[in-house]
Formats: sequence, C-alpha cells, structure tokens
Amino acid sequence: MQSALDPAGGDAQRIYWLTVIMTVGGILIFLLVTGLLLYAIFAAPERRAWLGDRRTIIVGGLAFPIVVLSMLLPYGLTVMRDTDVPTPGALPIEMVGEQYWWRVRYPADQERAEFSTANELVVPVGRPISVSVTSADVIHSFWIPNFGGKIDMIPGRINRLNFTAERPGIYRGVCAEFCGDQHARMAFDLIALEPAEFEAWRVDQAKPALEPDLPSLVRGRELFRMGGCGSCHVVRGTEADGQFGPDLTHVGSRRTIGAGQFPNNIGTLAGWIANVQHIKPGARMPSYGSLTGEDLRALAGYLESLK
Ligand code: CUA
Repeated sequence: MQSALDPAGGDAQRIYWLTVIMTVGGILIFLLVTGLLLYAIFAAPERRAWLGDRRTIIVGGLAFPIVVLSMLLPYGLTVMRDTDVPTPGALPIEMVGEQYWWRVRYPADQERAEFSTANELVVPVGRPISVSVTSADVIHSFWIPNFGGKIDMIPGRINRLNFTAERPGIYRGVCAEFCGDQHARMAFDLIALEPAEFEAWRVDQAKPALEPDLPSLVRGRELFRMGGCGSCHVVRGTEADGQFGPDLTHVGSRRTIGAGQFPNNIGTLAGWIANVQHIKPGARMPSYGSLTGEDLRALAGYLESLK
C-alpha cells in the first residue's frame, strides 16, 4: 500500500492536514471568486452596482487576502518547523540508494552486531526511527508516502528522515528522483512490526546464513560459488563477501526481489538470475542465461532457502 492520503506515522499526518486545508481552502476561494465574476458579468446592472463600491474593494480585495494569508502563512511555517524533528534515542538505520535498489544497514548497538539487508526497511511500531540516507552513485530520492515527505539521497551527503510508525503494516516506498533507466523499478517495503517481532527479526538477520541441508541446496551453493556470485554478493558465513550488490545472507526471508518487482520465490529468483537484463535492462547484474534448467532451480532453491 502506498498513499500519502493514509498517514501512518511521522510527519505524514501534519503534511496530510496541511494538504487538506490548503486544497479545501483554495477550492472555496476559487468558487467564491468565480461566483462573483459570473455575478459581475451576468447580473442586472442595478443589482451588481455594489461590486464597484469602495467598501467592496477594501473588504474583498485587501482585508480578505490579508486576513487569510496571515493565517495560512504562520500555519504553514509551524508545520515546516515541526517537520522532521530528530528524537533523541531514536533507532538509527542507514539506507543507501544504488542503481537500482536500496542497501539497508542496521548499525551495531550494545547487544547486537551490525548487518545489512536490501529493499526492506523493517522497523518496530511505536519507537522513533532515524533513517540516514545517502547514495552510492547518482541522486535518488527516498519516499515513503505514508510516513512523510521525500528526502534526497545525495552522494557524499547524509540526510535524515525521522518518524515513528504508529501501526503495524507493510507500506511501499519508492525512488522519487529520476536516477537512470530503471528508476521506475526502484521500490522497497517498509515493514512495521510489533516490537517483539522486530527484535526476533533483528536477531535472525544478524545470524550467518543457514547451512544447506538437502543435496540440491548444497549443489545450489556450489553453483553460487562457481558462478562467481560471491564477488558481488555477501552471504555471511560463507566465502561470498562481495560488497557491490545486495547482501543475500537472508534473501529468502524477503518479500520481494529486484527492488520490489516480483514476489520472492524459486520461480522468480530463477527467472531473475537467467534474464535480469531482459527484466530490468541497465541493472548492474548480468544475466546468467547459460545455466541449465536444473542448475538454475538448484541455485534459486539455495537462495530461497536462505531465510
Ligand atoms: Cu533511484 Cu530513481
């Protein structure tokens, strides 16, 4: 679900009301002015004479705009002031925009080691979150309509979005700045979990990858190694330590693949590996079209098993 008209936390509520008040106010004033204009044109001359009065001009042309604007301006400025205020003790998360996916990093704290994931921003409900965003290549824009405004992701600069998720759910985020061929296929999920679920998720994600327990999965891991996948992807607990692409340690636990493009299952993973340049031309990963069907299934099965 992705909608700026259904605020679920953070600044989205304030921005929503600003939008509603400005839009409804604008429509009412437009109707009033249009009504007066039609009246001035079509009413009988003797009935519309008052429109030319000095008093009408002063009240309608001077007093009314001054009063309305001096109410709206402080309101708008107040919303601006209260927007994106950092909360001390917020949970820090880092996101990096890449062509065309999202690197998500959870820094270490006293109890837990750091880990990275991709295309999924998982947060606990009710706790302030501070997402630091930047970019690895070109300018992207980080936008979760249900949680507030767009934040530019600029190489060499860190911007922040502060929010608190008010209710559990899955919300769609998108890249809101043209960043290349596949800009339109650069989405992610914000998943708001109950605090206990979030802690469990975090503990799982920090663990190394599961050991394959079926011959076909062992074969899949071998294909992953032989194919050189590990020069771009990390699978923690194996020798794969490439930093270029998404961390795949727990790729099987994610809802989607390809930055929000497909549901995550063996079929879509296999299709992705074999045809990525057909599905998402310009993505940094080459297509591995020469794998046999059986090898492709084993490789995709291995990735799917990395829960
Ligand atoms: Cu990244 Cu548009």
